[in-house]
Amino acid sequence: MNQLLCFTSAFCLILFHGHLSIAEAGLVGVNYGMLGNNLPPPSEVIALLKSRQITRVRLFDPNYNALQVLQGSGIDVILGILNQDLQNLASDLSFARNWVQENVIPYSEAVTFRCISAGNEVIPGDLAVHVLPAMRNLKTALGEANLEEIPVSTTVSTAVLGNSYPPSRGEFTKEVSPTMKSITEFLAAAKSPLLVNVYPYFAYIYDQQNISLTYALFNSSEVVVKDGQLGYKNLFDAITDAVYSALEKVGGNSVVIVVSESGWPSNENGEIATIANAQTYNNKLIAHVSGASGTPKRPGRSIDTYVFAIFNENLKPPGTEQHFGLYYPNMTEVYHVEFTQ
Ligand SMILES: *[C@@H]1O[C@H](CO)[C@@H](O)[C@H](O)[C@H]1NC(C)=O
Ligand SMILES: *[C@@H]1O[C@H](CO)[C@@H](O)[C@H](O)[C@H]1NC(C)=O
Ligand SMILES: *[C@@H]1O[C@H](CO)[C@@H](O)[C@H](O)[C@H]1NC(C)=O
Repeated sequence: MNQLLCFTSAFCLILFHGHLSIAEAGLVGVNYGMLGNNLPPPSEVIALLKSRQITRVRLFDPNYNALQVLQGSGIDVILGILNQDLQNLASDLSFARNWVQENVIPYSEAVTFRCISAGNEVIPGDLAVHVLPAMRNLKTALGEANLEEIPVSTTVSTAVLGNSYPPSRGEFTKEVSPTMKSITEFLAAAKSPLLVNVYPYFAYIYDQQNISLTYALFNSSEVVVKDGQLGYKNLFDAITDAVYSALEKVGGNSVVIVVSESGWPSNENGEIATIANAQTYNNKLIAHVSGASGTPKRPGRSIDTYVFAIFNENLKPPGTEQHFGLYYPNMTEVYHVEFTQ
């Protein structure tokens, strides 16, 4: 049995079968998506997270009511922006100053912002050109407010990858490569992470001939993919390392990946999107990223990860998209997930 010795609320020593390692408690967070017309108010949601000892949350935009109740909650926040604000943030430093003034400064004493994300999955796309200028203006505005310790980043999906197999051959598409190179240089200089949405579920459903469900669900105890000296037992690590390979190819050796979303739907795709599979995936995801195994390319460290999502959201596109939640809107669990490892 593993013993957990906590000295402060944030840092714990884990005695791991006699081996000593240092880990952060509450490493795994959740995405607080709000695309539902039947969701409980933020006060009840934040109370629910506290009751589950979940200490990190990602907000897709600076929702006023959520930020109000997050103050003093002990729950750290990744704060997103509305994609529609991206162009103004990019072109107008005073817009960025006002944004920080309104959405960050009032809370900065009582909320730890782990990152501000300029844009969610906008690369590739029409808005991609605005990402780096928006990141620069937000960083400048935070600096002027003496909040330079808050990292600024952006959130990408694996659509930025042109090649992802094997992981060592991971690279950005030709189209996004110049954009990702400039962003990577910014992140490396600022020692900020890249936020990446990592979904073995989508990789699996689009390539079921070549990928086994066992590998996608963290269920294999054997190496499934050999990549030079490295061996992969699960698709999550393979995808994450493909992004690390892509970062390395544009000078981002030092840039750390935070997994801003991962999850598995529990309904509306036959025998793949079932409660049993979603429960297996999310429990094994949390155990994996909380442990010190890391990925084969970046071993020996836990991986900051945010499960998608707290709720089933009925205003998302019909189908599996509406069934990624750990909870129904009435705050009953869809299935149980163990957050405290
Ligand atoms: C499976 O992999 C082979 C080669 O490794 C490839 O030709 C084929 O297109 C892949 N299948 C799918 C559905 O992508
Ligand atoms: C994965 O493993 C769990 C036990 O950890 C088991 O209950 C489940 O049936 C397995 N699923 C698949 C698809 O192998
Ligand atoms: C909550 O909602 C789910 C899904 O609609 C339903 O199955 C369950 O019975 C509800 N629980 C309560 C306590 O109302």
